Amino acid sequence: MTKPKRQLHLGAFLQGVGHHLAAWRHPDVDPAGAVQLSHFKNLARIAEAARFDAIFFADNVGLPDAPPEVQTKAALPYYFEPLLLLSALAGVTERIGLVATVSSTYLPPYHLARKFATLDQISGGRAGWNLVTSGSDFEARNFGLDQQIAHATRYERAREYVDVVKGLWDSWEDDPYLFDQTGGRFYDTSKLHRLAHQGTHYSVHGALQTERPVQGYPVLVQAGSSGDGQDLAAATAELVFTAQQTVEDARSFYSSLKGRLSRFDRSPDSVKVLPGISPVIGRTEQEAQEKYEALQSLIDPGVGLGLISGFLGGFDFSPYPLDGPVPELPKTEGWQSRQDLFISLARRENLTVRQLYQRIASARGHLTVVGTAKSIADQMEHWFNTGAADGFNVMAPTLPNGLTEFAQTVIPELQRRGLFRTEYTGSTLREHLGLERPAHPSSVTQPSKLKEESYV
Ligand SMILES: Cc1cc2nc3c(=O)[nH]c(=O)nc-3n(C[C@H](O)[C@H](O)[C@H](O)COP(=O)(O)O)c2cc1C
Repeated sequence: MTKPKRQLHLGAFLQGVGHHLAAWRHPDVDPAGAVQLSHFKNLARIAEAARFDAIFFADNVGLPDAPPEVQTKAALPYYFEPLLLLSALAGVTERIGLVATVSSTYLPPYHLARKFATLDQISGGRAGWNLVTSGSDFEARNFGLDQQIAHATRYERAREYVDVVKGLWDSWEDDPYLFDQTGGRFYDTSKLHRLAHQGTHYSVHGALQTERPVQGYPVLVQAGSSGDGQDLAAATAELVFTAQQTVEDARSFYSSLKGRLSRFDRSPDSVKVLPGISPVIGRTEQEAQEKYEALQSLIDPGVGLGLISGFLGGFDFSPYPLDGPVPELPKTEGWQSRQDLFISLARRENLTVRQLYQRIASARGHLTVVGTAKSIADQMEHWFNTGAADGFNVMAPTLPNGLTEFAQTVIPELQRRGLFRTEYTGSTLREHLGLERPAHPSSVTQPSKLKEESYV
């Protein structure tokens, strides 16, 4: 039997009215969409009609600190809370996956397990959890802390957090209900397994009210790319989002991550790696370039500087001339791999401060591709076929137009090449991604040590 051709996985990363920092000021964009549910319903429908694997929302649990005159010039990227937003979008879609970001640092694991189990149930098995650990002090200050917890500690806690969450999702074996009205038995208590977790960071003794998720576990997504982030992903994730500027860097990340999987007895295929890509599409190369420049011309320098400064723990750029060289940049307890990316981009291309924020403004350090549908599909195919990606997280510079254009031009080009599905073949996110449904530990003949300890 011939093996089916490997195909791309595509996420539609939806953010406000577009990923470009100045999207909200573009004349083709209605900035009010960023705060309207109808806008997001429209985007979800466009993505589903185009057969994306999933829609995805990022999140911060706080509003960045900025002087009012700068704050007012930047759109709010995370207006709606993603899990609640996806619950609403589950009702207007049928097949597309629904991936929400929730930080393991600020929500107790019981709440998270219950919320995602519920989203998985109400969407018929389409939920995914993008596990982040957060990376800024302005978020920490909303939770009684003066500054964020150290990078390594956040990841260590996240590792235990995932164990707890999975243990809670396994509170029930599949199909526990009897609904036996005459016998007076609602469910089969032999299928209930209360978690008894006593760890370094969490103590959780109990069971979820919610039935085991349709997918066993919602798909686990991870977006950290540092050594610690990759270790967490290798141990727990099934889908990995990452920001990469060059195909060489993307290849080295891809092989580094996949190389860590054997330590956890996992096959390279059990994790799909999706770098972000921001496509600026034109009917000709020149038209695409003009569209890109039109967006770039709308960037306010204060907002541009604020964006990179935010990623660098509030680094103060004021002593440095905009058209002078990028100074030594700090590595903080925040988003370390992204800081590395900014530093190496600035050094490799000898950028000025202004050039650096201009490069970052289009997609916050993710790859920006400017060209025709064909040339964009060529680049995606090249990354896909040379060990740099299993697919892409598509970050339209403006919304909805950028997503519509991608759906109408790049997707058909990928489909013509046999690189992307023309119809959904499954109904759950796991099925779209070709991931196995995890069996309940009670049905596994050799339970792992952790599971033996975790269950009573
Ligand atoms: C596509 C993508 C989406 C992300 N979304 C979020 C997010 O919503 N919230 C967040 O706090 N961090 C988010 N991150 C940041 C990561 O969780 C992580 O902090 C960052 O990639 C730096 O990784 P590192 O800390 O392992 O170096 C995202 C990263 C990527 C690549």
